[in-house]
Amino acid sequence: MKLFYHEQGTGRTVVFLHGFPMDHTLWTAVSHRLSASYHVVTPDLRGFGRTPAENHTATMEAMADDISELIQTQLKPEEPIVLCGLSMGGYVAMPFVRKYPHLLAGLILTNTRTTPDSPDVAANRLRTAEKLLTDGVEPLVAMMIPNLLGEWTLENEPEIVQNIRRMMLAQSPPGLAAAARGMAQRPDTTELLPKIPCPVLTVCGEEDRISPPSEMDEMSQKIQNAVFSVIPKAGHLPPMENPRPFCEIVENFLQNILQK
Ligand code: MLT
Repeated sequence: MKLFYHEQGTGRTVVFLHGFPMDHTLWTAVSHRLSASYHVVTPDLRGFGRTPAENHTATMEAMADDISELIQTQLKPEEPIVLCGLSMGGYVAMPFVRKYPHLLAGLILTNTRTTPDSPDVAANRLRTAEKLLTDGVEPLVAMMIPNLLGEWTLENEPEIVQNIRRMMLAQSPPGLAAAARGMAQRPDTTELLPKIPCPVLTVCGEEDRISPPSEMDEMSQKIQNAVFSVIPKAGHLPPMENPRPFCEIVENFLQNILQK
């Protein structure tokens, strides 16, 4: 499926995958900074932003296939890329690693996990999908914001909170419903962690309540030679809540693994 994507800068290609219920604008600050040295590509996954939802269910594997198609038919980089996935973007990155390891020079997993939904969480997602179609996006956004953002952001960064809310409210109910169904049926990808064939950076917001640092640290220890970093003053969305340290950590990683 053809994805909308934003691109900025030249050099080695780094593709950033947003979370749920978001779009490529999650990465605006990151793209602005990293494009000084890299070709930064930020797609809207199927059903999000400017990419339509074509199916009732958007699986993480189908989204990974979309990214492979984008790379191989549109971006056509001369060398392997680096892929970064935040939360749901990380759920998409794992099937990408399994199916397309030859396209990867490096992997960044941020604020995410490899474990599947418990039966309760999966059932709740299916209810959310139905409610999105009847009640729209607003109730979901109102429920998610206090959990999604760190205390520091909620208390001190009203403009950032507003930007995040705006990005989430702009999403389409059928697109979100399809992704919620897809997340509910995603498989456990934990067994893949020790087999990731490229360098890995894992990142977490210090105040993330959805994928907390302790859980991400545990996940990182299953990866060979992963570097794990914690971003202060950030919850589940460091690229928007505290982009400067997030960018510095990503830049360091890219410098270490890519030859200019
Ligand atoms: C996300 O940010 O993508 C979501 O928190 C993922 C999820 O709901 O599991």
